[in-house]
Amino acid sequence: MTRADMQAHPTPRRIGGRTALAGVIGWPVAHSRSPLMHNFWLAQYGIDGAYVPLPVRPGAFDVAVRGLQAAGFRGTNVTIPHKEAAFRIVDRLDRSARRSGSVNTLVFAPDGAIEGYSTDGDGFVANVEAHGIAVTGGRALLLGAGGAARAIAASLLDRGVAVTIANRTAARAHELADAMRADAEAGAMVDVAPWDGLGTVLPGCGMLVNTTSVGMHGGPPGDLPVDLALATPALVVCDIVYVPRQTALLRTAAARGLRCVDGLGMLIHQARLGFRKWFGTDPVIGPEVEALLDADLRGEES
Ligand code: ATR
Repeated sequence: MTRADMQAHPTPRRIGGRTALAGVIGWPVAHSRSPLMHNFWLAQYGIDGAYVPLPVRPGAFDVAVRGLQAAGFRGTNVTIPHKEAAFRIVDRLDRSARRSGSVNTLVFAPDGAIEGYSTDGDGFVANVEAHGIAVTGGRALLLGAGGAARAIAASLLDRGVAVTIANRTAARAHELADAMRADAEAGAMVDVAPWDGLGTVLPGCGMLVNTTSVGMHGGPPGDLPVDLALATPALVVCDIVYVPRQTALLRTAAARGLRCVDGLGMLIHQARLGFRKWFGTDPVIGPEVEALLDADLRGEES
């Protein structure tokens, strides 16, 4: 067959009765890189599976989930604005989900139950560790108090890292700290610092994590109120923003010789548990998937 013949008669991707199905529920969901990532791994491992975007309007979440379950899906990822609805629909909540108050991964178990997991916090930690940085002990300064901050705070506290939360709206920082303190194991290790008073806190921290949207492409203007000149040389600076990968915070940190962790790896690592549960293989996170996403995201920056 010539090249022209092949183009005229392409081999269709075979989707059959045994194909394992999963996807990502969100609204909007077109921007999600999860289909690219999961379908890359499916091809890499030669797995008979497919992963699709599932645009589901607010209010239609429950009916969509029940329908997908009835139609034989293995499960789904869940993104904005449905993570709290996902928390409410599950029959079995993993501890990670209980502590973050939200669910980003649903698994339709063989016994008919819906299981819920939150993989953002552990994905964050796994990514930091993949950079050769141990996540244990010490203190982290967490900027922001939204859903991502809560998941990351829970995972850091689980590893014995004390957490100081600072947020533009102080009341949300206190709410988050109270939610963490309600967990007896985490009790004393969480506190709150004023947004405009971080100069005294930063020198005592081994890790700084931005979970706010400041620095994101299309995000709010302005800078974060941290002066990295006050940091110790051992500070690890993390940003969960991944468009662009090098935010102003990370650029400043790198210029000062501090170790930096950008947000792309967290996106990849948080996907791992779902892939394993739905498709039965633990994907190795290598440079190929990172390069694929990096190239795709660069299109969005320009
Ligand atoms: P997510 O669930 O993705 O973490 P979120 O709940 O919308 O998202 O939280 C976004 C975070 O970015 C919040 O901590 C928010 O601070 P407020 O609680 O004060 O709103 C923070 N944020 C957004 N814009 C900001 C800005 N211009 N300056 C500082 N913080 C900002």
